[in-house]
Amino acid sequence: MKQARRLDNAPPYLFVEIEENIKKAQEKGIDVINLGIGDPDLPTPDFVVDKMVEALRNPQYHCYPEYDGCIEFRAAVADYYKRRFHVTLDPETEVVALLGSKEGIAHIFFALVNEGDFTLVPDPQYPVYQLATSLTGGVPYPMPLRKANGYFPDLSVIPGEVVKRSKIIFVNYPNNPTGAVADLDMYQEIVDFAAKNDIVVCNDNAYSEFTYDGVTAPSLLQAEGAKEIAVEFHSLSKSYNMTGWRIGYAVGNREAISKLKKMKNNIDSGVFTAIQVAAIEALKNGDGFVREMREIYLRRRNMAVAQLQKLGWDFETPKGAFYVWVKVPLDMDSKSFSRLLLDKTGVVVAPGSGYGECGEGYFRISLTIKDEKLLEAFERIRHIRY
Ligand code: MLT
Repeated sequence: MKQARRLDNAPPYLFVEIEENIKKAQEKGIDVINLGIGDPDLPTPDFVVDKMVEALRNPQYHCYPEYDGCIEFRAAVADYYKRRFHVTLDPETEVVALLGSKEGIAHIFFALVNEGDFTLVPDPQYPVYQLATSLTGGVPYPMPLRKANGYFPDLSVIPGEVVKRSKIIFVNYPNNPTGAVADLDMYQEIVDFAAKNDIVVCNDNAYSEFTYDGVTAPSLLQAEGAKEIAVEFHSLSKSYNMTGWRIGYAVGNREAISKLKKMKNNIDSGVFTAIQVAAIEALKNGDGFVREMREIYLRRRNMAVAQLQKLGWDFETPKGAFYVWVKVPLDMDSKSFSRLLLDKTGVVVAPGSGYGECGEGYFRISLTIKDEKLLEAFERIRHIRY
């Protein structure tokens, strides 16, 4: 069967490919330790699960959900943004529920980008920004995130012709995969750039709650004028260990949100209301839980840092998210190195090339694994014979 042309250039999704490699390794009898995907190992908190169990029994929630999310969920998001970021949002027009932030991130490109338009996307990056652009027929223009620039894009080097034809500039802080955290000045620079050039600016803020060493992540919407031009994507997946529930949200500029809603409403039918009810509980009462998770990731980050130092590998201690971005220590590309690690030790890491051209030469370790397994992974790596 012939596939649509738009799929021809789409690679398999990074973590689907990794999942297949894991299956093959397990079939060969390899005992796998997965430091690949950022999927929290600890369960969703009980108070959220209990709310879900109760909500499941309510037949009112068994019908189609409200397309944009129920107003109670949208109001809980607005309350959360007020409490956490001091940002005021109108739940009616400036918030929409998503089936996980990945879905909304992909759909905003379909809502705003025409064939031949540019989008400005970070490199390395969460692969969806580039992929969704390509699926729309747009052209992703990679903005290198260099260590020397604190993993922030240098907006001054983007050619004027590209800027003129760009519809979206996408950033992601706290950053996956580098662990860099943006401050408000950096967000202000991007918002000013976007406003001047009439480009919608989007931030993927899924890791906002996981920052360390006294750093607190702001919201892009705290920048002056942001609501004129900006949208932020957020997720309950990482903060509350809810990756399997598929719930997130987009907030910000009402025109962009309304276009995203129009796109979505023609494609999906919203988030199961019982899940929204449980998510409200997480947003309202989850601050203590998030603090505990932050402590756990900090401990694991410090463990990984100590182990990487012992190995003498090149990396930077991440200030945010729950990944460590490490230079490939051998003279080989990141895919070959990841495969070698899997074959020789059973340890799975994400190859940097999956995050864009600038990711080549690096690999990513996820800290979403029990402490003892993390240590065992390093123990195995230490004894590897090349
Ligand atoms: C990651 O591990 O980077 C992502 O969270 C996985 C995903 O969203 O597909």
